[in-house]
Amino acid sequence: MTSALPFLPFSKPTIDEATIAAVSDVLRSGWITSGPKVAAFEAQMSEYFGGRPVRTFNSGTCTMEIALRIAGIGAGDEVITTSISWVATANVIIEVGATPVFADIDPATRNIDLDQVEAAITPRTKAIIPVYLSGLPVDMDRLYAIASKHKLRVIEDAAQAFGSEWNGKRIGSFGDFVSFSFQANKNITTGEGGALVLNNLEEARLAEKYRLQGVTRSGVDGIDVDVLGGKYNMSDIMAAIGLGQFANIANITAHRRNLARHYYQAFGPDFEARSGAQLPLAAFDTSKAHSNYHLFQIVLPDHGPTTRADFMRAMQERFNIGTGYHYAPIHLFTLYRERGFKEGMFPVSEKIGRLTVTLPMFYAMTTADVDRAVAAVKAILIK
Ligand SMILES: Cc1ncc(COP(=O)(O)O)c(C=O)c1O
Repeated sequence: MTSALPFLPFSKPTIDEATIAAVSDVLRSGWITSGPKVAAFEAQMSEYFGGRPVRTFNSGTCTMEIALRIAGIGAGDEVITTSISWVATANVIIEVGATPVFADIDPATRNIDLDQVEAAITPRTKAIIPVYLSGLPVDMDRLYAIASKHKLRVIEDAAQAFGSEWNGKRIGSFGDFVSFSFQANKNITTGEGGALVLNNLEEARLAEKYRLQGVTRSGVDGIDVDVLGGKYNMSDIMAAIGLGQFANIANITAHRRNLARHYYQAFGPDFEARSGAQLPLAAFDTSKAHSNYHLFQIVLPDHGPTTRADFMRAMQERFNIGTGYHYAPIHLFTLYRERGFKEGMFPVSEKIGRLTVTLPMFYAMTTADVDRAVAAVKAILIK
């Protein structure tokens, strides 16, 4: 029996009419590449992050690659990261010629385990890329204590954490490099895109060079290029979407947190015991880590009656509800196996990678949608 209810996706962008009008204005303006909208978007985000410089790009992937280049990381250097992320997080390390080193995750937060990070540090380690999975920051005090003790750079993969906080401070308003993604499913989107929060204007100028072919100056008096850059700039069309989304960030974050609270209420205190599944860590005002609830992920019971594939199919076919999984462990992809990684190296990542499922969570969702998703999960998992 299939559901008569409309399809409930796991994620969906909301673009309001004012934003659509602003994009039309850019299209009619005669200037559609990087221009005044990009400058305005960067200035607004810089203010939001306490005055730190912000530069935009055409993806969250190249923001991290550029941060690594600015930090001077390359051949012979090791960078420690997590295997439970989108593959971009590790690919950028290879892209700059450095060596990715994985640390296992903490089963409670599903983020990189900082004890394992310390254990993985060698004389060749130059940086850490922590990922704030689903928007939940790691222990930022501990992260920066480790970085300063071992003189390591930090490139925060905050792709999913726009609007999240640590101890009352916005992610991005402190720390070293902080990288955000505006890919279509993110809490705020530019279609595709990214932003990097930097430490000073010198780094910001380097970011500008790396995002546009390494050009140092151009004009009637000539042009010069002194580093190998790429074509990574954001257009004004994208920035107009970003400005419209950013104007609503407080509502977006508050609504997602309400939906998350409703998820916990609807699952109820006995859900984990009855189903064998694990809910995400409840990270609201009582915790130092305050998630933006980019994703709401449960971990299915191991050796349960349903595999993840069966569970996802049942959600789709019986209840017309979309789900996803974020993520399959990076170290088990062929590219990484070919570099020597194999099963058994990071057991917590492998287990969560096999059992995690992402339930619907997006700005246009209602608490009735949450009830519908929870009822479906219970019907499948609780016999
Ligand atoms: C954790 C994480 N890291 C990196 C990325 C890469 O961002 P983008 O797709 O904008 O390149 C994403 C999003 O796709 C992500 O979720």
